[in-house]
Amino acid sequence: MYTSAQQRQFFERSKALLKTDIPSDQSLATAEVTELHELIEYHEWRYYVQNDPVLSDFEYDSLYKRLEKLEAQFPALLSPNSPTQRVSNDLTEDFPSVAHLIPMLSLANSYNAEDLQDFDTQIKKLTLLPEETDIEYCVEPKFDGGSIALVYENDQLMRGATRGNGVQGEEMTNNARAIRSIPLRANFNRRGIAKAELRGEVLIRKDIFKKINKAREAEGLSLFANPRNSATGGLRMKDPQEVARRGLEAFIYQLGYAVDGQNESQLSTFSTHDETIELLGELGFKIPEKERKVCKNITEVTEFCLDWERRREDYPYEIDGMVVKVNSLELQEKCGYTSHHPRWAIAYKFKAKQATSKLLNIDYQIGKIGSITPVAKLEPVQLAGVTVSSVSLHNEDFIQSKDIRLGDTVLVERAGDVIPYIVKPLEELRDGSEQVVEFPTHCPSCATPLEKSEGEAAWRCVNYHNCEAQVLQRMIFHVSKDAMDIDGFGKSYIERFYQQGWLRSLADIYRLDYAAIAELEGFGEKSAANLQRAIDKAKQNPIHRLLHSLSIHHLGKKVSKLIAGEVDHVLDLRDRTLEDFTNIKDVGPVVAENVIDFFAQESNVELLQEMEGLGVNMRQTEADRPQVVGENAPLLGKTILFTGTLQQMGRKEAQALAESAGAKNISAVSSNLNILVVGEKAGSKLKKAQALGSVEILTEAEFLTLMGKN
Ligand code: IVH
Repeated sequence: MYTSAQQRQFFERSKALLKTDIPSDQSLATAEVTELHELIEYHEWRYYVQNDPVLSDFEYDSLYKRLEKLEAQFPALLSPNSPTQRVSNDLTEDFPSVAHLIPMLSLANSYNAEDLQDFDTQIKKLTLLPEETDIEYCVEPKFDGGSIALVYENDQLMRGATRGNGVQGEEMTNNARAIRSIPLRANFNRRGIAKAELRGEVLIRKDIFKKINKAREAEGLSLFANPRNSATGGLRMKDPQEVARRGLEAFIYQLGYAVDGQNESQLSTFSTHDETIELLGELGFKIPEKERKVCKNITEVTEFCLDWERRREDYPYEIDGMVVKVNSLELQEKCGYTSHHPRWAIAYKFKAKQATSKLLNIDYQIGKIGSITPVAKLEPVQLAGVTVSSVSLHNEDFIQSKDIRLGDTVLVERAGDVIPYIVKPLEELRDGSEQVVEFPTHCPSCATPLEKSEGEAAWRCVNYHNCEAQVLQRMIFHVSKDAMDIDGFGKSYIERFYQQGWLRSLADIYRLDYAAIAELEGFGEKSAANLQRAIDKAKQNPIHRLLHSLSIHHLGKKVSKLIAGEVDHVLDLRDRTLEDFTNIKDVGPVVAENVIDFFAQESNVELLQEMEGLGVNMRQTEADRPQVVGENAPLLGKTILFTGTLQQMGRKEAQALAESAGAKNISAVSSNLNILVVGEKAGSKLKKAQALGSVEILTEAEFLTLMGKN
């Protein structure tokens, strides 16, 4: 339908227009209106027909609003064919088209608290209510799937249709029948309703979506980009059996039309939107329940929307915002409709999780054991409220399998707290200037040829001792919280001391000249003394920390502890065999080999001897002894989290105690948490746990009693 050159041009023109002011001159406005028609039609095709938009909703809306503004300013430019004069279109020729009983409109959008305030003010104007009135709203999630209209006559499901162009939809009754949450019969009669049309959204649960994609991958089929595509695609399948297999569900969010046997509207027998939804729930439809709230005014609406925006990732279905509806049906009627949307409702759109950006360059970062990680440098882009300009590309295979090229426009996603990632390049926007990525063959730091071992995804620089970048990374890791935990010592100090020529190996960390450090710009006696104190303290660390700090491939915190418990002195590990290691529960052969390799190298042994000479502890301590957790351990299999300030012991000590009783420490409140121990000044974690209702909440004293300590 569109050539690649056209698509590129439309995309670039859209982006450019978004950055310019709206023209005030008639002839410029005329040209722009014509162009906006074309651009908006293109983006609607990408969204509704291809299910694969290239602009964020916010950008699309901005273009749309720009056209609306121009049409308001120059009424002569308003034509009946303008995209503003009709709702969007997802009609194809695959299904028979049917007229909706009443048009299925779209929604106006809002993006922040201020927009919601403006909406509330507007409602009061439309309903002639005084400014200080509290308007009641019903707020529900804005489900991100495909919309459907269902017609029931004499309690039977007669017809299912997609939204289509809003006036006409595509008839897909057999597919609707295949969706189990859509009742084939519902007792509307009991409310005197002979014929009804309901509106809802067809969705697929996120976990089921993942399973389907996994199965498709195993069968070598193409993958769905997201749950929305898989739901809208599912609705349009030719074979209803296939529809059933997709696990589609339908949430009903509106009773659009309801008449009795004499064709008299029965909607007036309800007073609120909430009541209509409640009835539909009673009749057996799937409705928003816990996720629907009647709010007493716009302030409560705003809080509810913001709260949901924070929690959207925990919800099992994709939602892209909330829908705010005037609750009173009488007030709704007073507000009325535009040709595009009801004036009594507005969508509050969450900040976009996906956006497009240009891949400017690729940095190759060298890890602490020499693994090379390609990192995409992007034109900065806003994602879910954060500016993103740097995204990991993981390894060469990732780049090749997605065919990511330098200069590509790429789709980037950042969902909740998840690290941002590149979904795919937009191949249709290429102009031929993009370059295939040539993965380096030599280390960007020391020029040693890169190697890749069997079964590993990463290329590695094998110049372990002399690659500057690697050594730096190992030192940075060595002093970090997870490893030797040297307070106040971080990346910037390491880099600074490295530049001074003071740091070349891990051992150098323990022979720093504090008098010289005090002389450095920005340091002084006090910070040098603080650093010395922190380093002296770290020298006494239990050996499991030291082991972990050595950056042995795959050797994590947990296995370091298990291994530390087996020896009196770190260098005793030299004599251990593969069997010795794998006999320890939870120690696998791969990490065991790596430890053996490490201690087989004389240079490593010398390094440790050097460190011991500088005062670093190499002997097992109390903290290294394996904790035997008996079957009767009081917290066996439980997850636990400490919050607030504990009075009788430090956080770490309490965590170790809980661990010795069989518990697992976790770091966030979620439905996976069993026990929350609350110290003084506990804050949001306590609130969240209380809200969940499933978490056992203990005071510090109660916890200690449980541990047999009080
Ligand atoms: S009410 C006349 N409520 O959002 C009012 N729509 O741009 C029409 N949507 O495609 C919409 N969740 O399918 C409403 N709780 C909800 C919704 C919802 C999702 C979809 C709807 C339409 C789009 C509106």
